[in-house]
Amino acid sequence: MTAPLLFITGASSGIGQAMALEWARRGGRLALVARRGDEMRAWVQAQGWSADQAAVYVADARDLAAMAAAGRACIAAQGLPEVVIANAGISIGVDVSLEEDLGVLRAVLETNNLGMAATFQPFIAPMRERRSGRLVGIASVAGIRGLPGHAAYSLSKAGVISFCESLRVECRPYGVRVVTIAPGYIDTPLTRGNSYSMPFLMPADKFASQALDAIAAGVGLRVIPWQMGVLARLLRILPNWIYDRAVSGRARKARKSQ
Ligand SMILES: NC(=O)c1ccc[n+]([C@@H]2O[C@H](COP(=O)([O-])OP(=O)(O)OC[C@H]3O[C@@H](n4cnc5c(N)ncnc54)[C@H](OP(=O)(O)O)[C@@H]3O)[C@@H](O)[C@H]2O)c1
Repeated sequence: MTAPLLFITGASSGIGQAMALEWARRGGRLALVARRGDEMRAWVQAQGWSADQAAVYVADARDLAAMAAAGRACIAAQGLPEVVIANAGISIGVDVSLEEDLGVLRAVLETNNLGMAATFQPFIAPMRERRSGRLVGIASVAGIRGLPGHAAYSLSKAGVISFCESLRVECRPYGVRVVTIAPGYIDTPLTRGNSYSMPFLMPADKFASQALDAIAAGVGLRVIPWQMGVLARLLRILPNWIYDRAVSGRARKARKSQ
């Protein structure tokens, strides 16, 4: 029997690399996707993985045709994956009163939202036909309520949560599960430059293990770590007047030019 296959974007760094490593540790094969092909190939070599165990596909999540081609190439060379994780994402602060930041907003939405749809697209029909598979979206606790200075990212991650929910209902009758994982603060290059406090900061390997367990269980939505799950539930029901006061003075994510 061939080992189960994971197709994962954003595999050149952070959470994506940690999930890929944990999947391989559990005996699975990998299809790794990101723009930095040389880094991914060097990493695969450093792990001592054979071409059967891990293949690299270079694609920009914002390039819809390139993502479709990567998905099709994976199916042709490695077969239909058991799990597809749309993890590639960027997080940049914006001030939408500044015209220059509208381009940043576009880049965030193209990467985090259109990139996710383009990641899933080639796999949806074949998974439905096979009547099994898992499509996984990486959201964020920042998608639960809008964070000041982070309008682009909060918008994109709220979009991930709703998009995956739509897809979950559409796919369920075909035996295909759609799982949304909302990380809190995970220690990766994306968070290392943050100037604000990051409660319950979690190492990426620990996150990866808990995320793969949640994916295997086929849950609808899981916040990791659990402490941020409690906070997320609270955030959902907090009246605006309390929420606004609580977050208005919070230090903000750096903008592109900062
Ligand atoms: N770290 C956290 O605390 C945290 C919290 C909540 C949610 N998340 C989410 O988790 C995911 C991974 O984040 P991370 O913390 O691991 O960040 P990271 O270390 O910066 O990694 C981001 C990954 O996304 C890829 N990527 C970015 N833009 C891309 C593009 N246009 N096309 C293809 N790949 C692209 C990067 O690869 P290349 O540059 O090689 O293309 C890289 O592999 C993101 O969706 C992020 O929003 C992270």
